[in-house]
Amino acid sequence: MKTYHIAVLPGDGTGPEVVAEGIKVLNAAAAKAGFKLDYQKFDFGGDRYLATGEILPENAPQELRQYDAIFLGAIGHPDVKPGILEKGILLRLRFELDQYINLRPVKLYPGVPTPLAGKGPADIDYVVVRENTGDVYTGIGGVSMKGTKDEVAVQSMVYNRSQVERAIRYAFDYARKRHKKNTLALCGKTNVLTYVYDLWERVFHQVGETDYPDIKRDYYHVDATCMWMVKNPEWFDVIVTGNMFGDIITDLGAITQGGMGIAAGGNINPEGVSMFEPIGGSAPKYTGLGVINPLAAICAGQMMLEHLGEKAAAAAIEKSVMRVTGSKLKGMAAGKMGYSTSEVGDMVADGV
Ligand code: IPM
Ligand code: MN
Repeated sequence: MKTYHIAVLPGDGTGPEVVAEGIKVLNAAAAKAGFKLDYQKFDFGGDRYLATGEILPENAPQELRQYDAIFLGAIGHPDVKPGILEKGILLRLRFELDQYINLRPVKLYPGVPTPLAGKGPADIDYVVVRENTGDVYTGIGGVSMKGTKDEVAVQSMVYNRSQVERAIRYAFDYARKRHKKNTLALCGKTNVLTYVYDLWERVFHQVGETDYPDIKRDYYHVDATCMWMVKNPEWFDVIVTGNMFGDIITDLGAITQGGMGIAAGGNINPEGVSMFEPIGGSAPKYTGLGVINPLAAICAGQMMLEHLGEKAAAAAIEKSVMRVTGSKLKGMAAGKMGYSTSEVGDMVADGV
């Protein structure tokens, strides 16, 4: 029987609880579809750091490279200064494993409340392709005269052409494969970031004109993108953007699809190992209460199966999630579902 080897990083806070439900559903889908998943757990996260002083073992990226995929819960601990674990674990893995795409679907499922008045599942269904290795996330910059009135802080928006081009090509390919509106929108800021987003815009049109004449090209400034994601989400099909704008607009997108309880993403290296995660955080105040919504982790598992080529099993998970949101759950927020974390996992697993 075909077996996939999955590295599991449950991480901090509610990460382990939602990962457990994700695995429950993955196993149910695999059993139905006739393949197996073999899991290896790694304890990277805040507790391990506090106990050992080590954020991530030096050889961790190398070790993780041997798996078919990585399934991640959440990183972030209330007793660790913000930034240390995020940079030292999550961002380090994204960079060192060269997961250059952060794929974030924004899809409203039936029965899920959206804050967008008058909009429903037919209106909110698009995908953000967030570049995942460059931008201000490279950490290039510095500080001088710290603590004085003359303190200077610089953190640069860094992109090279090949980074931009591979993200744009991935997004065009994705729009073609998705085959819905056959439209790719570039989200930039060409009126102010006249070097970085000028580069993005030139590559976008050159690549589109030469290799993707079948895909319509749109352009929006990032501020306008936010406005239209609220007012006319049905305009969007696939959006491609840089790392920082992508981070921001996908939180906006997430809240329009029901919030962090349901939003999932994949850190993709099309030529290497990819990592799938619920896009919300570790939610320390809900830890251990059995009230956190596991659907985001379950949907991350679905994306992982899709990526591994198990399309039928992935589709079965999505269908089951839609049945649960459409006919069972009272709400999406922690403690408001009308069911516990594991009951939600059971209902999805039973329906695959
Ligand atoms: C995300 C998160 C991370 C990011 C943080 C935790 C570093 O917000 O995955 O969107 O900024 O990429
Ligand atoms: Mn974010």
